[in-house]
Amino acid sequence: MKVLITGGTGYIGSHTVVEFQQAGYEVIIVDNLENSQPDVVDHIEKISGIRPHFEIADLRDKQALISVFEMYPDIKHVVHFAAYKAVGESVQHPLKYYENNIGGTINLLEMLQYHHINNFVFSSSCTVYGEVNNLPVTEETPSVKAMSPYGNTKKICEELLMDQCNASNLRVVSLRYFNPVGAHDSALIGELPVGVPNNLAPFITQTAIGKRLSLTVHGNDYPTPDGTCIRDYIHVVDLAKAHVKAIQYLQNKNHTQNYSVFNIGTGKGNSVLEVIHAFEKVSGVKLNYKIGSRREGDVVQIYASCDKATNILGWKAERSLENCMESAWKWEKHLNDVMIR
Ligand code: NAD
Ligand code: WQD
Repeated sequence: MKVLITGGTGYIGSHTVVEFQQAGYEVIIVDNLENSQPDVVDHIEKISGIRPHFEIADLRDKQALISVFEMYPDIKHVVHFAAYKAVGESVQHPLKYYENNIGGTINLLEMLQYHHINNFVFSSSCTVYGEVNNLPVTEETPSVKAMSPYGNTKKICEELLMDQCNASNLRVVSLRYFNPVGAHDSALIGELPVGVPNNLAPFITQTAIGKRLSLTVHGNDYPTPDGTCIRDYIHVVDLAKAHVKAIQYLQNKNHTQNYSVFNIGTGKGNSVLEVIHAFEKVSGVKLNYKIGSRREGDVVQIYASCDKATNILGWKAERSLENCMESAWKWEKHLNDVMIR
């Protein structure tokens, strides 16, 4: 029952570590702390009552990876989060993204092959679909040319995983996340955006707390009911639970394919203004926002069909948009308290 979680001190990884511990797995985190803090491990322990093993290592460093796998010879499953994720930065520095996201994945797969570890869950993204005509988007929808080098690393990793499944005993589930938001109910773990956030949810909470002057809604002239873009916002705890279901699915060995993909969203689209209003409702804070121009590269609307994950993995999102905003707000206030202290 040992599971190795790369990127386990990061935003989605830390919530996933907790869910695996609560499901009875022993967790080993590997993270280089480039985009996370070491005290996340203490916070995980506070939530679950169990301290995960934690190894600081970079997936690009083969020697470091060899040491980790030697230290824990009985790893049975791997969940792979570690990657860079900033779309804009990937356009400026594509090589950095290809090297880390693809190079790191290849090094990890070499370790799995060597140690005969066969169960692997990969963090993919709805970005592989681009702009789609038929909604909700199913896993059958063909992926398009990636809109950024970041998106391309997800596409390429999915393809290389498929090839490796064909060539070996590897069994892979790629989870295509829609828009992860929110934080753990304890407010002990959550998202830690570096610098000015690009994503909507942290921008909302930072504006509400006073870290940002105002939020700009990127366009209200889209062909949607209120003119703003539509996305599928999924609570990070619901998302974390999907990883446990995916590993259990691989463990149960009743899968027919060695490589499969699943959409992980709520199945419901919400506009930018709906997200803002949900936040205002649960926080009681009137948000200072203005309407700006469209943001380059934004798709008009996308939301998931999650029927495949429900039917095959037995997973379904349970939390509402209000709950997402409530937990994101509690986390932002917690961060503010910590800074003041
Ligand atoms: P995050 O940055 O919070 O977590 C990633 C973690 O990986 C960080 O702790 C970082 O220090 C670590 N890391 C990065 N490169 C590493 C390396 N070479 N070696 C070891 N550790 C390394 O990001 P997140 O939001 O938790 O995203 C996790 C995964 O989910 C990523 O693969 C991301 O692309 C994917 N994803 C995220 C979103 C999103 O909106 N957050 C959406 C779709 C997919
Ligand atoms: C959501 C909506 C913005 C900020 C990105 C990545 C994607 C995936 C998830 C990893 C859009 C609007 C935002 C703001 C706004 N990540 N917005 N004002 O663009 O759907 O997806 O994160 O795989 O790959 O591209 O998420 O949170 O940036 O934007 O109006 O200040 O909020 O225009 O309509 P996005 P987002």
